[in-house]
Amino acid sequence: MTLENIKLDIDYVRSQFPAFKDPLSKDWSFFENAGGSYVPKNVIDKLTEFMTSTKVQPYAEYPMSKIAGENMDKATNLFAKMINAKSNEILIGGSTSINLYVLSNALKHIINPGDEVIVTNQDHEANISPWKRLKDYGANIVEWKFNSDDHELKISDLDKLINSKTKILAVTHCSNIVGSVNNLKEISDLAHKNNIIVIGDGVSYAPHGFPNVKELDVDFYTFSLYKTYGPHLALLYGKEEILKNLPNQNHEFLKGQYPYTINPGGPNHEELVSLIGIYEYFENLYNHHFKNKNLSTLGKIKKINNLISLHEENIANPILKYLYERKDLNLIGKNKIENKDRAPTISFYSNKKSSKEISNTLHKFKIATRNDNFYAWRCLEYLGIDTEDGVVRLSMTHYNNYNDTENVLKALEKI
Ligand SMILES: Cc1ncc(COP(=O)(O)O)c(C=O)c1O
Repeated sequence: MTLENIKLDIDYVRSQFPAFKDPLSKDWSFFENAGGSYVPKNVIDKLTEFMTSTKVQPYAEYPMSKIAGENMDKATNLFAKMINAKSNEILIGGSTSINLYVLSNALKHIINPGDEVIVTNQDHEANISPWKRLKDYGANIVEWKFNSDDHELKISDLDKLINSKTKILAVTHCSNIVGSVNNLKEISDLAHKNNIIVIGDGVSYAPHGFPNVKELDVDFYTFSLYKTYGPHLALLYGKEEILKNLPNQNHEFLKGQYPYTINPGGPNHEELVSLIGIYEYFENLYNHHFKNKNLSTLGKIKKINNLISLHEENIANPILKYLYERKDLNLIGKNKIENKDRAPTISFYSNKKSSKEISNTLHKFKIATRNDNFYAWRCLEYLGIDTEDGVVRLSMTHYNNYNDTENVLKALEKI
């Protein structure tokens, strides 16, 4: 078997997630992954271990405290390696919304009256509202609108919006409604030619493959760890040369100690340590599928990403095709995943039934899904969709299987 022929061993994957054995959840096909994912047992074990033996204030010299602190640092260092960042370039905060709010506060000093800030109407509100607040400091907010025919953000449209006054661009790597992967590298290149700081929202991208932030060349990048198989925390990456010059948002005496300067309050300790479990899970996944043990963490992540993408493409494409062909349902975004150009985050709505009615009917077939605007209400509003009722979202990840695909297709056929 050549490496290229290796397929994701889905039974192995599912055996790592206790939710698939739990009496409450085991019979359900879980399609709410873009809301929050299940966690592998390594994460639960790390959490239990911390709470059992090291649940004390960390970083003192006695053993329980010393180990607690060491494990907190270990979790941060491992995650930095997984996304190709330096340890002092990432911080773990309470949520992406909080991280971006603090970041926008720190960046307001670069705004002079009349400067421009670009946001998109494809983003989750977490990467729009904090930047719109810069209006209070004299910024003009400019909206990069997606194309209403194919629902894509066009870089040619961005090009037309940029001028010498543009200072900040906040854009999603992948929308939690449309699902398309935006070319963040190309976007960053264009922005940097014009001295613009780029903030990429990777919340809907990272669950389908941890990003290489240096390759993307974004200035800041964020994702929510509770959607990447971990606890309710979020990661923010920032380029060191920018981070170190940001005004301190933390206690006064911490001035200069980036990245703590933009992480007031810091993360939840036990949850931070449980992130080691995500690393272990991906390491186990690699070792289960591949022989070469000498690869770097980044190299292993790349191989796992390819494995996951292929599996997700196979289980999601039949659903995309089905929804696209049903004349009474409206699929948002691309009708096929090709070459990682789309996440298996699938949103649709009906001309005849409310999204709530469809979602609740799917529950009767043990399909865990949801209707909502998912806080991307500008996106829904632009598409003329009722923002209260929203869309039905079927969001998959690598632990979904063909059985889930069949279940949802059968259920949709009956609705
Ligand atoms: C694309 C996207 N960005 C940002 C967020 C906000 O993340 P958090 O809940 O960590 O604040 C979400 C949450 O659903 C999201 O889907």
